[in-house]
Amino acid sequence: MKDPAPQESGAPKRRRGIFNQFNNWISACGAVLALSALFAFCLLFVLDTFAASHSPYLGILTYMVAPFFLISGLIFMLIGWIVDRKYLSKLEGESSFLTFSLNFNNPRERRKLVLFVAATTGFLFLSALGSYQTYHFTESVEFCGEICHTIMEPEYNTYKNSPHARVSCVECHIGSGATWYVKAKIDGLYQVYATIANKVPRPVETPIKNLRPAQDTCEKCHWPQVFTGNLDRMYQQYLSDEENSPFAVRLILKVGGGDPRLGQVDGIHWHTDPRNKVEYVALDEDRQDIPWVRLTREGQGQSVFLRDGVDSLEELGEVEIRTMDCIDCHNRPAHILNSPNDAVDEAFALKRLDRSFAYLKYNAVTLLEAGYESTEEAHEAIRTGLEEEYAGQDGLDDVIGEVQRIYDENFYPQMNADWSHYPQNISHKNWPGCFRCHGGEHYNAEDGSPLQANGCNSCHTILAQGTGDQLLELAPAGLEFEHPDGDVSGLLCSDCHTGGTQ
Ligand code: HEC
Ligand code: HEC
Ligand code: HEC
Ligand code: HEC
Ligand code: HEC
Ligand code: HEC
Repeated sequence: MKDPAPQESGAPKRRRGIFNQFNNWISACGAVLALSALFAFCLLFVLDTFAASHSPYLGILTYMVAPFFLISGLIFMLIGWIVDRKYLSKLEGESSFLTFSLNFNNPRERRKLVLFVAATTGFLFLSALGSYQTYHFTESVEFCGEICHTIMEPEYNTYKNSPHARVSCVECHIGSGATWYVKAKIDGLYQVYATIANKVPRPVETPIKNLRPAQDTCEKCHWPQVFTGNLDRMYQQYLSDEENSPFAVRLILKVGGGDPRLGQVDGIHWHTDPRNKVEYVALDEDRQDIPWVRLTREGQGQSVFLRDGVDSLEELGEVEIRTMDCIDCHNRPAHILNSPNDAVDEAFALKRLDRSFAYLKYNAVTLLEAGYESTEEAHEAIRTGLEEEYAGQDGLDDVIGEVQRIYDENFYPQMNADWSHYPQNISHKNWPGCFRCHGGEHYNAEDGSPLQANGCNSCHTILAQGTGDQLLELAPAGLEFEHPDGDVSGLLCSDCHTGGTQ
């Protein structure tokens, strides 16, 4: 290319070549921005490729944030170019505050250049440091749990008390893989907007529709070969009578698993065996109302189960068919909000509450489930309520303190979050849980046979029940459940038990 304009010393003549039209401060700043972003991108890309543990947020920074700045930089360069073409090029031979041209013979221009290069290098360095730090921060539990403190308080607090307290939020909620970053990020951006606009639903909605399949998250740590096998569990509970009488149930839960050394391979974790696929349709948002179930067994074809009163999938209208995974049973692995009944039982069992206070089970549960506008109001009501009942009794302050503590751990009035808003699907006592399908109401659409595992001994064997010596004699063959409040056959447990005083 020939240079048409001869160079002179002093103010340089502006040239009309296309590249020279980037010769202005707007384009120069754009170039610095784009260059820094490119640099940050390369660094993050290397980190993402070689890092031992894959953080989802690293991906967000690499593939979303860095490119955003890169593109913004390029857009600035373009704007500079347009401005240059439209206005500056007309200033033939003159220099304006926007023009930026280099003439190495001019010491002033040289100083400008040195300053510019120094600033660019500094900026590059800072942007690299910044993106690395941001990445570390955004993947931290503090970022997820504490940034929007009020909103996340129920989840954050319950998480800290859960068996997953050392598993970071992102490991369950995002996991690695590009499409999930994007999904989670778009959702996250909306969340930020919703928080600012005070539009977050209270309680925060669940189920989380874009939670990825559990194989990609839970099975990173709990793969089928390490499943527990059968579990021996004791449920220590107390009745609402004057003595707060203990009533315990000891069960062998037939969890089963993927390793024959841990007990039968079938059992409850049969659902997670890749050879069995269970799909279902739920009519409500909480997935409590399940009228249609389809079972596909490798090599054995399909069967459809319909709930009493339902004749076909078509009559349910437009519905989503969901494949069952871990989260259909373990829906609260990290955010357990105990019901008042269970929380008070636990406090008795751990001797945090004193059973010598007559009717304490009943009174404490009644006070807890009453419903309050704020934590202060609840504390006050608990104190006055218990003082009225037990005025002057030794140890009353401890009782009050413990019931208030139970409230603090399990009730978040500012977010409207407590047990009653978040069904717990692992059991069948306070919520339908397993009985959503195994309640004895689902029948094979072809031959009318019932969906299996609906007898009281299908999923567990009761080894002992009652109190005191009754718990010492074990019945390996299993006992029939003796309900402490008389015969309840023919009803679902959750018809009466709702987590409060029944
Ligand atoms: C062991 C896995 C796991 C960990 C760790 C975890 N969560 Fe969750 N979280 C879940 C599951 C499962 C759900 C319910 C999903 C569903 O039903 O759709 C959930 C639900 C939520 C919800 C929706 C409201 C609710 O209570 O159902 C929020 C908000 C949330 N988690 C935030 C967090 C935060 C913040 C952290 C870290 C402090 C965290 N989670 C850690 C598994 C986890
Ligand atoms: C990063 C690893 C990790 C991930 C991911 C993870 N867990 Fe866990 N999980 C653990 C650890 C560690 C424990 C505690 C084990 C212990 O106490 O022996 C645990 C315990 C559990 C328990 C036993 C709880 C109890 O009461 O003792 C269940 C159930 C469980 N996890 C289910 C899940 C489900 C469902 C998911 C997916 C939503 C999941 N986990 C994701 C590591 C993980
Ligand atoms: C059909 C319901 C169901 C499904 C699906 C299911 N589980 Fe379970 N799981 C249970 C029950 C019930 C128990 C034992 C009782 C309990 O933990 O409360 C259990 C126990 C566990 C335990 C051991 C808990 C302990 O206390 O030691 C882990 C870990 C676990 N499940 C992980 C998973 C993972 C991971 C998946 C998905 C691949 C999964 N489960 C799918 C019902 C289910
Ligand atoms: C969405 C429906 C659904 C839910 C919810 C569900 N199951 Fe199942 N389950 C099935 C289906 C379908 C079968 C296969 C039944 C058959 O073969 O007739 C099955 C089979 C079983 C079996 C027998 C496995 C074997 O070895 O043959 C057990 C045990 C079981 N479920 C336990 C549970 C427990 C415990 C829960 C709750 C934690 C639960 N299920 C929740 C659908 C469900
Ligand atoms: C589909 C499987 C399944 C069937 C059928 C089933 N259970 Fe359960 N049951 C469970 C599971 C799973 C748990 C434990 C859940 C947990 O808390 O981890 C449980 C827990 C219990 C408990 C202890 C709960 C507590 O708080 O004391 C009792 C009692 C019980 N079942 C009684 C029964 C009776 C009675 C029947 C028959 C009407 C029955 N179960 C049928 C799966 C089943
Ligand atoms: C007709 C209503 C009704 C039904 C149905 C029912 N219960 Fe109960 N249950 C009660 C009452 C009332 C009590 C006594 C409550 C008390 O004294 O605090 C009770 C007490 C209990 C207790 C001991 C106290 C506690 O902490 O909850 C357990 C365990 C229990 N029921 C389990 C079950 C199971 C499992 C089922 C389903 C198989 C079931 N119940 C079905 C009404 C019912």
